Parts: sequence; C-alpha cells; structure tokens
Amino acid sequence: MTDEITSVIGGKQTLNGTAGDADAYDSVNPARLDEVVARVRPADAETFSSACRTAAAAQPEWARVPAPVRGRVIASIGRLVEANAETLARLVTREIGKPYAEALGEVREIVDTCDFFLGEGRRLYGQTVPSEMPDKNLFTFRVPVGVAAVITAGNFPVAVPSWYLVPALLAGNAVVWKPAEYAAASAHALYRLFAAAGLPDGVLNLVLADGPATYRGLEAALDEGTVHKVGFTGSTEVGRRIGELCGRHLQSPCLELGGKNPMVVMPDADLDLAVEGALFAGFGTAGQRCTSLGTVIVHESVHDEFLGRYARAVAEAVIGDPAGDVLCGPLLDHRFAARYEDYLGWIRPHHTVVSGPTGRITVENPRGDFTGEGGLYYHPVIVDGVRADDRLFLEETFGPIVGVTGFSTLEEAVGLANRPGYGLSSSIYTTDPKSAFRFRAGIGAGMVSVNNSTSGAEAHLPFGGNGKSGNGSRQSGVWVLDQFTRWQAMNWDYSGRLQKAQMDVTEIIPDMDFRL
Ligand code: UN1
Repeated sequence: MTDEITSVIGGKQTLNGTAGDADAYDSVNPARLDEVVARVRPADAETFSSACRTAAAAQPEWARVPAPVRGRVIASIGRLVEANAETLARLVTREIGKPYAEALGEVREIVDTCDFFLGEGRRLYGQTVPSEMPDKNLFTFRVPVGVAAVITAGNFPVAVPSWYLVPALLAGNAVVWKPAEYAAASAHALYRLFAAAGLPDGVLNLVLADGPATYRGLEAALDEGTVHKVGFTGSTEVGRRIGELCGRHLQSPCLELGGKNPMVVMPDADLDLAVEGALFAGFGTAGQRCTSLGTVIVHESVHDEFLGRYARAVAEAVIGDPAGDVLCGPLLDHRFAARYEDYLGWIRPHHTVVSGPTGRITVENPRGDFTGEGGLYYHPVIVDGVRADDRLFLEETFGPIVGVTGFSTLEEAVGLANRPGYGLSSSIYTTDPKSAFRFRAGIGAGMVSVNNSTSGAEAHLPFGGNGKSGNGSRQSGVWVLDQFTRWQAMNWDYSGRLQKAQMDVTEIIPDMDFRL
C-alpha cells in the first residue's frame, strides 16, 4: 500500500484545503518510474496562509523557552536523524535518485548542522558596549524575527532545508516549510523526526503545495503580517519573484539560487586531481547541485591533456541504480529531465562533444550494457570549444553537462569565470599560492575552492552567493543567525539625569600644536 501524505499544521495532518482526489499526485522513484514512493495531497493557498497564522500564534511561547533548552531540542533532532540515518538516506535515494553514498552524506549534513547549533543555544551572544556617558550601559540582544516561511528545492531534500529550519528554530522562530513537490515524502519524514524531538505543535509546520498556491499563500501571509522572513532555495527566476514580493513588504529574503560554477585549471595544476574534482563536481548528483561545475576554464597549454583525461574518466564512470555504488543516478524528476533536454539543444556546430552519445539512456541509445530502462537516466556530456557568448557558457544547465573553454592569462581566466554573472561557488587548481590568492581576490563567488571541486561545502562555513546566485545572504555557521534574528540595541542610563548623546560628552582637549 502506498503512503498518502498531507500537510501537517499545528501538529495535525490536514485535509482541510487540500485539493480533491483528482489533484492528488504521486511522488515517484526516478530510477523506476512505475514505483510510487508516496501519494501526495497538495494544499491550496489559503492552507499556506493559515499555516502562517498557526505559526505566528505558536511563536511567542517558543521564543520564551530559554535558548539553551531550545538547543537541547536541536540536539535531540540531531540524535534522531542519526539514529534514522540509513532509513532516511534510503528514502532520499528512492524518491530523488541520489546515489546512496551521497544520500548518507546529505543526512550527515543535517547532523553536522544540529551539532553546530545545539551549542549556539548556550551562546546566541549579545554584547555589552561602552557608552560615551558615565553611568550608562549599552547592550545588544538577538531577537527572533517571528515566523520564517521556508521554500526549498528537492535536489537536497533534507540537508538544505535543515540549514534553514535548525537555526530558525534555535533562534526562537516558528517555521512554515514548503518542500519541493517531487521530494514530499523525504520532507514528510524529516518533519516527523523534528516533531519527535518534542517541538510544540505549531512551531514547525509542513505545507505540501505547488508553486502558484505557495506564492499566493505567501503573498496573503505577508499582507496579514504573519511572515517575517522568507528563505528560498531554487532557481534564479523564482528567486527574483520572491525577492520582489518580499521587497514590496520591506523584507529581505534569504535567497540561495542557481550557479554557473567555474573551475580554472592552471598550467601548474595537478591534472589528475583536477580531473577527479571535475568528475565529481560535474557529474556527481547527476550535475544537479547548485554547486555543480558549469564550465572548466583550462589553460591552453594543458587543454588537450586535461580534456583527454577528463573524457576517459567520464567514460569509465558508472551510471546506474542509485542504490548501488555509482557516480550518477537518474535525474530528479520528469520536469528536470525535460529542461535538461532543452539545455542539450544549446550545443552548437562550433562545439565538440567529447564524451560520446548524448540524451536519454535507452535501449536504442545505451551506455555500454546499461539501457537505463524504467528510469530518467541521461548520458554525461562534456562539450569542448564553448565560447564566452554561448548560452552554454552563460546560463545554468542543471544536469550532467559540463562546458570546457581555454585561456592564456590568469586575468583572462578570472574574467571568464565572472562573466556569466552568477556567483555561488568557484574553484581553481594550481600549485602556485599567488594564483590561488589572486583568483580569490578577483572572483565574484561567495565560495572559492583551491585544489578542490566546486561542490561539497562544509556545513559550518557561510554558504551563499552573489549576483544571479542570491542577494548576498548567507546560510550555515554563525552567519545564518543574522537571517533569523534581528539586533536590538538597548541603553540604560542610571545617572538619574538626562544625558544627551553627542552633546553632553566629556571632551579631553589635545595640544594640537605639539611637535617633537
Ligand atoms: C545545493 O545544491 O543546493 O556544497 C546545496 C555542496 C552541498 C550543498 C549543495 N554541501 O555541494
């Protein structure tokens, strides 16, 4: 029997406001499209905004729970996730086709995030600051924002949501979480683990809804004043719409958007290491990380050698059942497969595909013995000869396709790396520290790897991008706390009189004519 899942608001499974049976849909296994992982009953816009009202009602009491006690709840979430790691990872693999080893890594990232923030419950430091007046003290406090509406993608269906949920809850906020439709079962399982840690009803709410219903529900909630921060991970295009909507309500969202992440290979690079990095960054997760490699920008003196080794490594990589030991499983969902086929249409006559066949892996278009039957499997593609004005160079191509282009000076490489106007992740392979630091200083990306791939950021560094990759907000580590708290400044004058700032300040007069 297939599990049927619905939104959970105020601790209750809700069928109110869900679409009728006709609108229920199946979340399917992209490796075996006839296998239904869960039947989902999506909610309407009113259900989304009512979840925000529920969250707003529950938030003040949660904020009164002492932060170290909230930290203990985060500790319990981490322990529960760890105790259920294999089951959760298997579900992620089944629902979105992520290779099992990567799915386990994704679950680990939730535990890492909980480990980091459980201690933050005992810090959440404010400051005591000296006043310019005698008998007066200044303080700062971190105050929760209120309700966070969190809308996430499905390529990291449990880890990336935890980057929002964990710090938001720790800081005393309530949350309404809208996961990706095609990853609803993984989201529902993660919700249950959070709930089992003892979060009071209404503090975390799960709303399963499509994009248009979510947008309308969010707009209504912003109008009603029941949402105070929006966190969004997804495409640049949707991020712009969310940014506009929040801007109209004088809010700045936390946006984590697409990437066209460059990897520069210098003439002095360890080429085998660079190939290993380009293989994982380009084709791990079937190229569907926001940190996946977009274009290799390789020095002309090592271009041919790099390309030969890269094409060989890709030819030898295993693509297949994500439950097994493979580099690449299927694409996430039909929608992503259709969009990926559009990107393949951007390959032009001046390009050279050096990786063999392209398109869906089928009986007619196999990859060796693998015919990809029943799943959304695609050939990995390396395209050489990409030029700076090509769509393939300028736009994100979510999926297993990597462009390659050449350069002659580091300055030129940095210019090429910045040209698409994204700015999430980037990488350089070099053995010369001067090149590494010059690249760091010149690149517009929020994240820079040296002799490491563009993907695989650790959970306690600031994660986020600039330009088309985001609005400069950062997730993870202490930096994300600035998204989910606001600074409150307090001054306390115990002099017993009105001391006017900037006016009643004692002045010590220097002898400005003094010379040695
Ligand atoms: C994403 O694809 O949205 O840095 C996040 C990485 C992972 C997170 C990716 N830790 O590749």
